[in-house]
Amino acid sequence: MSRKINIAIDGYSSCGKSTLAKQMARELNYIYVDTGAMYRAVTLFAVDSGIIEDGVPDVPKLKSRLKDIEITFVNNSKNKPEVHLNGENVESRIRQMSISNNVSAVAAIKEVRKLLVAQQQKMGEKKGVVMDGRDIGTVVFPDAELKIFMTASHEVRTERRYQELMDKGDQVTKVEVSENLKKRDHIDTTRKEDPLRQADDAVVLDNSKLSKEKQLALALEWASNRINE
Ligand code: DC
Repeated sequence: MSRKINIAIDGYSSCGKSTLAKQMARELNYIYVDTGAMYRAVTLFAVDSGIIEDGVPDVPKLKSRLKDIEITFVNNSKNKPEVHLNGENVESRIRQMSISNNVSAVAAIKEVRKLLVAQQQKMGEKKGVVMDGRDIGTVVFPDAELKIFMTASHEVRTERRYQELMDKGDQVTKVEVSENLKKRDHIDTTRKEDPLRQADDAVVLDNSKLSKEKQLALALEWASNRINE
């Protein structure tokens, strides 16, 4: 039997990390973990509890409430994992702009990262995990057998996220989406705690001009090489 590996997928916002990660997990029969959803769930908790406003969190208050936050992934009827916050399915709410506008500030808090990174590392203990985020190859699984760093042009990323939100019926403008992506990329790459950066041993995947099918075929080839090493 071939060995199981961990696959780390990092990159900027809206590069299609989760699309690729989900497809790879399905093809390889691995577990998919969306770590952005975990940071979004903490942000939702903070918004609902009045701990954050206009992207400025009350850090001491949030730290003292971290013990009240339980994040789990539960498979829906289509066998797709959805994030639950304290037992409630919040998969749809965490994707709203109100959360996107606040999440990078929450993800920059050291104690939040410490808590979520520990949970993510536990999920990967037995291998066979495809995890996407910003610090997976650098912090969560520095020993991941395959690390992919995804990128795409700002225009392509804006268009993709805009379409995604429109399909869900969210009333947003393209300018709002573009500004949100720029702001999040800036905070994510310049923050002190575990900033987004390419791991030295990551392979770069620029999908600005790559179809989903070609991208998947390429990534699966990389995975197969590592699995059979
Ligand atoms: O992948 P996403 O866009 O759903 O992530 C939401 C935010 O969470 C993103 O702006 C940065 C943060 N994040 C992070 O700091 N570390 C991760 N491993 C995943 C996400």
